[in-house]
Amino acid sequence: MLSIEKYQNEFIDYLKAYSIEKEPKNLYEPIDYILSLGGKRLRPVLTLMTTDIFNGNYKKALDAALSIEVFHNFSLVHDDIMDDAPLRRGQQTVHEKWDVNTGILSGDAMLIMAYQLFENYKPKIFRALAELFSKTALEVCEGQQYDVDFETRNNVTIPEYLKMIEYKTAVLVGAAMKMGAIVADASDEDQHHIYEFGRNLGIAFQLQDDYLDAFGDPKTFGKQVGGDIIENKKTYLYLKALEFSTQETNAKLEALFSSNPEDPSAKVEEAKAIFLDSGAADSTKQAIEVYTAKAFLGLESLDISEEKKTLLKVFGTKLMNRTV
Ligand code: IPE
Ligand code: IPE
Ligand code: MG
Ligand code: MG
Ligand code: MG
Repeated sequence: MLSIEKYQNEFIDYLKAYSIEKEPKNLYEPIDYILSLGGKRLRPVLTLMTTDIFNGNYKKALDAALSIEVFHNFSLVHDDIMDDAPLRRGQQTVHEKWDVNTGILSGDAMLIMAYQLFENYKPKIFRALAELFSKTALEVCEGQQYDVDFETRNNVTIPEYLKMIEYKTAVLVGAAMKMGAIVADASDEDQHHIYEFGRNLGIAFQLQDDYLDAFGDPKTFGKQVGGDIIENKKTYLYLKALEFSTQETNAKLEALFSSNPEDPSAKVEEAKAIFLDSGAADSTKQAIEVYTAKAFLGLESLDISEEKKTLLKVFGTKLMNRTV
């Protein structure tokens, strides 16, 4: 096994070699732009690590890891259009730097490039990867649609929210790891358990993303702080605030989350104050710990060394304490 940093560096080198300078520039430049903006690279690192965990050679997983990262970045380009987001990784989003049409088409091309990378595998692995990818990518679309539908609904439940984040985010983390297991030719049982680890970690990850969206430090977060509040996203913070507050506060919160003011700064501050005072912020932190612990507990079903389990736990703990 390598260290997390080493997997990350190996991946980044591979990504650099992949960068393409092709015509038309307005299609490919935004792709290069978003892929080289950085990001945590957590999904490809998980793919590579998982291949090693199941005694494969991580180098064979580089194309699968790249596919996952290209797909993830595609989903961000389209997500930023849908969320009307100005900032990504501290820089302008693709549709702000270019325009919405560029974001749509460059995104489409990235989705196809992600699929194309599986062509580097032999038929049996190719098929398994492609099947998992298709299933996962459709689920991401379903999750994204729920996310948008919830913006204009005021009766979203916690189970509905959890299903939404499972689909839009967690299944891709699970799939990133399962792909690593597929490349290593791991047993079906091991593939299942590692997928479940990734899925639970992914739920914790999205809860943390929601928390940081409200309470992250604008200097380091890299995205517009308060973006979810501005867009009336029904996050865990919002749903728990409703659960814990008086009728009066709830009426205020519901009014806030059906408004679209020109200057959203007062709305963001009011919503954040309610999230803190109601205990919703603390409750979200607890939920992050619960899902991380659930992921860790699932590791006990895996017949791998303690050293490998520790590495996965170090990774999960780092994610839980991140600020970006
Ligand atoms: C952002 O993912 C989208 C979510 C699923 C929350 P990341 O937080 O992994 O984004 P980067 O790739 O590190 O920028
Ligand atoms: C993103 O959820 C999920 C996908 C991109 C599929 P968010 O909308 O919360 O992600 P960020 O916060 O913009 O990164
Ligand atoms: Mg978004
Ligand atoms: Mg979104
Ligand atoms: Mg978010």
